[in-house]
Amino acid sequence: MELPFAESYRIKMVEHIHRSTREEREQWIKEAKYNLFKLASNQVYIDLLTDSGTGAMSDKQWAAMMLGDESYAGASSFFNMKNMIEKITGFQYVLPTHQGRAAENVFFSATVKEGNVIPGNSHFDTTKGHIEYRRAIALDCTIDEASNTQLEIPFKGNVDPAKLDKALAEHKGNVPFVIVTVTNNTAGGQPVSMQNLKEVREICNKYGVPVILDSARFAENAYFIKTREKGYENKTIKEIAREMFSYADGMTMSSKKDAIVNMGGFFATNKKEWYDSAIMFGVMYEGYLTYGGMAGRDMNALAQGLDEGTEFPVLESRIKQVQYLGQRLDEFGIPYQRPAGGHAIFVDAKKILPNVPKEEFKAQTLGIELYLEAGIRGVEIGALLADRDPVTRENRYPELELLRLAIPRRTYTNNHMDVIAVALKNIYDRRESITSGYRIVKELPIMRHFTIELEKC
Ligand code: F0G
Repeated sequence: MELPFAESYRIKMVEHIHRSTREEREQWIKEAKYNLFKLASNQVYIDLLTDSGTGAMSDKQWAAMMLGDESYAGASSFFNMKNMIEKITGFQYVLPTHQGRAAENVFFSATVKEGNVIPGNSHFDTTKGHIEYRRAIALDCTIDEASNTQLEIPFKGNVDPAKLDKALAEHKGNVPFVIVTVTNNTAGGQPVSMQNLKEVREICNKYGVPVILDSARFAENAYFIKTREKGYENKTIKEIAREMFSYADGMTMSSKKDAIVNMGGFFATNKKEWYDSAIMFGVMYEGYLTYGGMAGRDMNALAQGLDEGTEFPVLESRIKQVQYLGQRLDEFGIPYQRPAGGHAIFVDAKKILPNVPKEEFKAQTLGIELYLEAGIRGVEIGALLADRDPVTRENRYPELELLRLAIPRRTYTNNHMDVIAVALKNIYDRRESITSGYRIVKELPIMRHFTIELEKC
């Protein structure tokens, strides 16, 4: 008999979590104005709000923390980190930042000008925010297939080469770079193929435009290339990552994801002129060039985490857990963005709650139901996140209303996945009876979802 799959680690330290009662949760969510961000973490049993900075570090990472060099300038921890980044990505110029959006801020400050167009595949919110804040345009060139949740294709995060070519032709001379997000978070943690990265490079070469990878989950992307793309079966994750980066001129990184640290980020490139023009903003916003918002111990943990996070058994344990949750949902017929993504399952709230009007926020309603059912916290990727139209101030209703269940790395067991699946099944079984959602009581003009206050309809 074939042995079943099991995680490539064992647990050395645990943190207790509290299983509350439904009555407690009804009280807490009401006090939180039906905004899941406003819940205290000890009011949550299984926290799937994000996989960012919420993973468990290894014994070797904790050991590396003890050797952190806290010198202001020239710390050995910086060189440990820089050397590991160069080994894995091939980029020699490294600018540390406190997290991913800070890397965007520093690099974009040097390169993005008013009126520029920056094509990409479903830019992440902060990436889009940093582009639009500079009065430039984030132009989405993701393949159309990405918005059909039930379509099963291996690389649903890809850039559409025809859309990219058209964008570069139309905006010639006005595109500072193209940004490809690997994996594509917004489209459901879906990967981009090596073939697609090559095509993007060729199209960009034709127009003389450089390419940046938003690399938060590059190692998960490499795992999908290894397991889904012909010709990569026998390559290591590190070899695949190196090839992915060979098609780019630079990268922004949120190390809180695939480098498995609680805080950290960086910008890296081989273009000396980019590095030289970004360092001023690095010093201004983040700190001196050899720490940039990170403690020495954090840079040491980051170096170790990058090494571990690009090892196949670590990625296999992680992604198979997300896929396990997907399989459990399949058993119950619960619709989600298919196939299961690298870091999360995106449940299709439109299909689950057809009787809740879109004006009453379907995905948020599902998120609150899931919290009430079992103390599980996901995050709404729907009309609340989409904000209002800047001109008409009307609510924008996106094509997809999703509830994202992001799985932190090395944190929960498959027993937790079972609880999540059954909690969703219980809601799915009574879906016909859920006919109303929530209305807005108070909101900010932008990024409203973090602080919004709601009431029951
Ligand atoms: N790019 C991608 C693809 C991301 O998913 C994130 C963060 C960032 C950039 C920004 O990095 O948070 O370190 O500043 N994503 C988190 C999430 C917040 O929950 O998906 P950051």
